[in-house]
Amino acid sequence: MKGIILAGGLGKRLFPLTRNLSKQILPIYDKPMIYYPLSVLMLANIKDIAIIVKKEDYKMFNELLGNGSSLGIKIKYFIQKRPNGLPEAFLICKNFIKKKKVMLILGDNIFYSNGIVEILDKAKKNEGATIFSYQVKDPSRFGILNLKAKNKISSIIEKPKNSKSNLAITGMYFFDENVSKYTDELNFSKRGELEIVDLINIYLKKKKLNHSRLGRGFAWLDTGNFESLLEAGKFIEIIEKRQGLKIGCIEEIAFKKNFITKKQTEDLINSFPESDYKNYIRKILNE
Ligand code: TTP
Repeated sequence: MKGIILAGGLGKRLFPLTRNLSKQILPIYDKPMIYYPLSVLMLANIKDIAIIVKKEDYKMFNELLGNGSSLGIKIKYFIQKRPNGLPEAFLICKNFIKKKKVMLILGDNIFYSNGIVEILDKAKKNEGATIFSYQVKDPSRFGILNLKAKNKISSIIEKPKNSKSNLAITGMYFFDENVSKYTDELNFSKRGELEIVDLINIYLKKKKLNHSRLGRGFAWLDTGNFESLLEAGKFIEIIEKRQGLKIGCIEEIAFKKNFITKKQTEDLINSFPESDYKNYIRKILNE
């Protein structure tokens, strides 16, 4: 299975932080934002990863993550010229996906839960597409699922004004090998974008849409405005301080998943400056 992280976008709501810096490089407490979605792909055992970025951001992402070999994964970068919508990922990465299934994750979404690995493993086995829903307080800001009996999806509506349902679609999706073909069939919406809801609706019509509800013990945070950016940072800080364990530490995940050996991890952190981050990984290696 292939993985894609969408890390383009203008990040207008975070201006002027995003004046000369990609949103997905901004700090979430002690790490660049992109470490969090990247760690989710790694937890799903996905090692062949495309990162979609703006042209002007490529250099910085490449300096940060390179080709992934130090983490035992493969990273390729693709340029999105302008933010034409999430499904454009499947057009930009058509030749990367080829005939494989693909997991897409938004570069500004954070997922945290005990049991996330099991949820991802289960979803990987599904036919068609799988989306994940999460109860939110303000449905008018999200793509919302309406359910009928037995947890079946009856409809999906983008940013409904008055919605009975409060189940939002999160920024993590699995699609089968037809995703680029179906994306080709999409038209631009009134706001001039290809819409992920339209793509998901194709799978719904074909009865090939699966849905997994992330429960209340799950944290799904997005980091698109100043408030949510700060809150996400505070959330990570609180959990990390309490447990002494890091969230989204890509080197730890690479080591624990055997993507790299102990020796490779040691060599990798030898290039890091003396820091709490380095000490943390050193400690993990000696446990
Ligand atoms: P958004 O938050 O919808 O957009 P944005 O990041 O440009 O922010 P703003 O609305 O403040 O201008 O995007 C969600 C995520 O998806 C984010 O990580 C950027 C990414 N994205 C792309 O990479 N390409 C796109 O075409 C779009 C629409 C989003």
